[in-house]
Amino acid sequence: MAARVEALKKERLAIQRGERPDPRPGHHVRFEGGGQTYYRFYPPGHYYCAQCLDYERVYTETDGVISSAPCGCLERRHQEAEKKSLEERLSAAGLRKKFRGRTFENFTLSDLNRPAWEAARAYARNFATHRQSGKSLFLVGDSGRGKTHLAAAVVQEVVRRGFRALFVVTLELLSDIRASYQSEGRTEEEILRPLKQVDLLVLDDISAVDQFSEWEKGKLYEIINLRYEAEKPILVTSNKMVTWIKDRLGKKVVDRLLEMCGDFIPVGGENYRERIACSLRSEDY
Ligand SMILES: Nc1ncnc2c1ncn2[C@@H]1O[C@H](COP(=O)(O)OP(=O)(O)OP(=O)(O)O)[C@@H](O)[C@H]1O
Ligand SMILES: [Mg+2]
Ligand SMILES: [Zn+2]
Repeated sequence: MAARVEALKKERLAIQRGERPDPRPGHHVRFEGGGQTYYRFYPPGHYYCAQCLDYERVYTETDGVISSAPCGCLERRHQEAEKKSLEERLSAAGLRKKFRGRTFENFTLSDLNRPAWEAARAYARNFATHRQSGKSLFLVGDSGRGKTHLAAAVVQEVVRRGFRALFVVTLELLSDIRASYQSEGRTEEEILRPLKQVDLLVLDDISAVDQFSEWEKGKLYEIINLRYEAEKPILVTSNKMVTWIKDRLGKKVVDRLLEMCGDFIPVGGENYRERIACSLRSEDY
């Protein structure tokens, strides 16, 4: 047995030193992350790690004694897999690449937007409790104040904590549902099912149009009521206040939102979209 181990060590040392050809006919490398195990196949002569040649240990010889130590690639691989599975879960949450750069960390604070940032961050950190009670969040403020930014940050934090979230732009959702009546793609039922199932639903920019058709009003009520009935949280962003929403979407919608969200959180401060546009323009000259 000991002789067998010594022979193995010797062989691996020689392979890692390039003194012997690798006898493996291709091999799999195991990746673990997000509670899942993945394997990737490497054909003969190809390796994930150039140092240990995927043996996961690095062999060295000192005074005729061969010893080995774990290779750093193992840890690195687990971190990569962790990140990959987070990326996949964020994609499943409907969060496009451009929104993934919007985090609590890179939200510039001022006296006017700090309360909203604090409320959103605390909400995300305590999501396990809110998931139980159905406590929801309504962010309201003028255009470019960072409502969508904060909603994207909440989704990332909540997904990182292992919950399922879904970020939808309200108007896109309505047009997807409308399109489902005519096309062969997803049916309305298939679109609505995840809206009901996820732990957190984000309805971004609920006040993007000035008038809603009767059908749109009915659908928005249906979606909000779906969450209400299931006692599951919803995060809504809007640049219009309660009375506006009540006038356009009706009392039933507002009453449910108020009951689920408690107070609406104002997002104040300067218009960052204008600020970004200005700095881009000045770079042009
Ligand atoms: N406090 C902030 N710090 C850094 N970037 C910010 C901040 N607020 C907003 N931004 C950036 O400004 C841009 C516009 O912000 P965002 O889309 O979140 O605004 P909004 O409040 O959702 O506006 P709208 O009502 O028009 O949808 C984004 O690129 C966002 O990342
Ligand atoms: Mg927005
Ligand atoms: Zn290695």
